[in-house]
Amino acid sequence: MAPETANGSLLAVSDLHVAYAENRAVVDRLVPSSPGDWLIVAGDVGERFADVESALGGLAARFRRVIWAPGNHELWTPPADPVALRGAERYAALVEMCRGLGVITPEDEYPIWRGAGGPVAVVPIFQLYDYTFRMPGVDSPEESLRRAYEAGVVCTDEHLLHPDPFPSRAAWSADRVRRTERRLDDLDPALPTVLVSHWPLVRRPTDVLRYPEFAQWCGTVRTADWHVRYRAVAAVYGHLHIPRTTEYDGVRFEEVSLGYPREWGRRGGPPAPMRRILGADR
Ligand SMILES: [Fe+2]
Ligand SMILES: [Fe+2]
Repeated sequence: MAPETANGSLLAVSDLHVAYAENRAVVDRLVPSSPGDWLIVAGDVGERFADVESALGGLAARFRRVIWAPGNHELWTPPADPVALRGAERYAALVEMCRGLGVITPEDEYPIWRGAGGPVAVVPIFQLYDYTFRMPGVDSPEESLRRAYEAGVVCTDEHLLHPDPFPSRAAWSADRVRRTERRLDDLDPALPTVLVSHWPLVRRPTDVLRYPEFAQWCGTVRTADWHVRYRAVAAVYGHLHIPRTTEYDGVRFEEVSLGYPREWGRRGGPPAPMRRILGADR
């Protein structure tokens, strides 16, 4: 029998931000080009719990498999959202919601892509950030944050992404990194990976940010060698809203964001945000 992914592709997208009607329309048009296609969704589907559920549910109904990693926006507790859960409880509820839809989360067994370019483990990661992507000459997270406030470049996470029950987002991130390392260490050492996270695993992609103060909300130095240590054939991320392909240490990094309408509108033409990570050329 042919494997379920025969002729399919491993596709990826992020930063769908479906609260914008224009983006919701783009998401409603995302369809597989082969019945074997898998879709990675690397965070920032939306903010309202029900929006995240309906967008992921629609995608799960169309793609053979959907793999999700949370972004900062899913982890917000927007004041008007009837789901008022905060922090780790909100994340747990998102995981349960995904499981109900058949969507793979960072808490599930990592699926093995067996189509072209496989077998590889597809690894959704939730690592958050810890303010270690600091500007040169800035030694402490406090100083880093102070400079960001001075420059007027402060991520909304400071107001809406609550770390409960952890004392800080950095402490939550440290816990996530420890848990994820244990999972990755347990993988078959002969198996390559596609690592999927909302925030880039390495700092270099943030070098092109228009506001360098924003980098402190973009990842953690604790994951700097994961793409090498855990045999990545590709690392997928979003969050920066700068879609592009780069290479670090011989590993392909793919920023797969759709971004806000004003951002993709500037690029011209109707957006086709899905990128092929693995799969046969057609
Ligand atoms: Fe985003
Ligand atoms: Fe984000």
